[in-house]
Amino acid sequence: MHGQQHAVSPHESFYRAYSAAQVDAIVDALGHRAEFPYELTYLGDGSEMWRESEVPSHPGRAPMLSDFDTLLTRHAERLLALAPPSSPVRIVDLGPGTTRPVRGLIRHLLDRSRLAGYHAIDISPEILDLAREHLRVDFPAHAERFELCRGDFTGPDLARVLAAGPASGHDGADPVRFVVLAGGTPYNFADPARLLRHVRHAMGDHDVLLLTLRIDTGVDRPPFMDEVSVGGPYKPQQLVGLDLLAVDRSWYVTETGFDRARSEVFVRARFLEPVTVTFDVGEDRRTVSFEPGETVLVWRYLYHDGAAVADQLTRCGLRVRLFEHGEDSQVVLVAATPAPGTAEPATAQPGETFSGRSDTATLGG
Ligand SMILES: C[S@@+](CC[C@H](N)C(=O)[O-])C[C@H]1O[C@@H](n2cnc3c(N)ncnc32)[C@H](O)[C@@H]1O
Repeated sequence: MHGQQHAVSPHESFYRAYSAAQVDAIVDALGHRAEFPYELTYLGDGSEMWRESEVPSHPGRAPMLSDFDTLLTRHAERLLALAPPSSPVRIVDLGPGTTRPVRGLIRHLLDRSRLAGYHAIDISPEILDLAREHLRVDFPAHAERFELCRGDFTGPDLARVLAAGPASGHDGADPVRFVVLAGGTPYNFADPARLLRHVRHAMGDHDVLLLTLRIDTGVDRPPFMDEVSVGGPYKPQQLVGLDLLAVDRSWYVTETGFDRARSEVFVRARFLEPVTVTFDVGEDRRTVSFEPGETVLVWRYLYHDGAAVADQLTRCGLRVRLFEHGEDSQVVLVAATPAPGTAEPATAQPGETFSGRSDTATLGG
């Protein structure tokens, strides 16, 4: 016997956090591909977990740093060797989170008088506040070099943020841009190659793309790669999307597993009870229903080995220049530069973003 039908509507905070176009995108993703887009969990209340991740577990002590936080700094000199000698460097951080992964690199460039500016673009205003706070604390004398703007890097905002800033550095030389996609950001998207092509297309010939991500090294593979694990492991932020819809956690079980055909690790919710969520979309009401046994994907991560990561970058018009493992060998830093003659436009139509939105956010918001 299944329980009674649960009819819910998202909390008021949901409508405060998302634009009408974003609400539409969420309803479409739920209805058409049974997925809550993970990238949209960083907005509103969902950002709180990122704030908490910066709170040290022992008062008075800095948070523990992982390879994700140190790899860019550790290899800063080798990254600089990919830029023309003495050229100033502008960091363009796509989805900065708390900025923890790039602060060491910023410090390194400042110490060598090579920083021509730091620009960040993020879809979440709350994440941008958090990023701004951390930069202010760590670099109180350099606020004028930091520009953080709200926007969607899957669409035309990317070209705008890349073009931002003076055309030449403080000594008149043209700055090189280090375009950062840290923390595996592209690999949470349903189509990472599309994002990588879009970024490559927006890059100039001398720009360097810097990625940090977790790869499959064939060792220490999580057990759920062989068999779906019911009930975990998952991270609280992976359930934030359903929380925002007021879907109670007791109405579903989580499943963590590996989709071999797509090489994706995933977390999904499998409903135990029937649930109907009704959304107010402008003048309209839209409803999405889930029957017991149906699933909603709440998180995905393309879990490739090193060769597949490099292959994909090559197919996206990028040439891998550096590939370094962290102390945890699954965490890697990849630097890539545009391959000559591969500047053709990505497949997205002008003005179109990957989720079909073109009006979700604007720069400087
Ligand atoms: C996986 S987190 C990585 C954060 C940070 N780079 C790190 O390594 O800790 C992804 C970040 O990208 C942002 N983001 C996701 N999709 C985005 C989009 N389409 N446009 C702009 N920002 C986006 C999120 O808000 C979040 O800050």
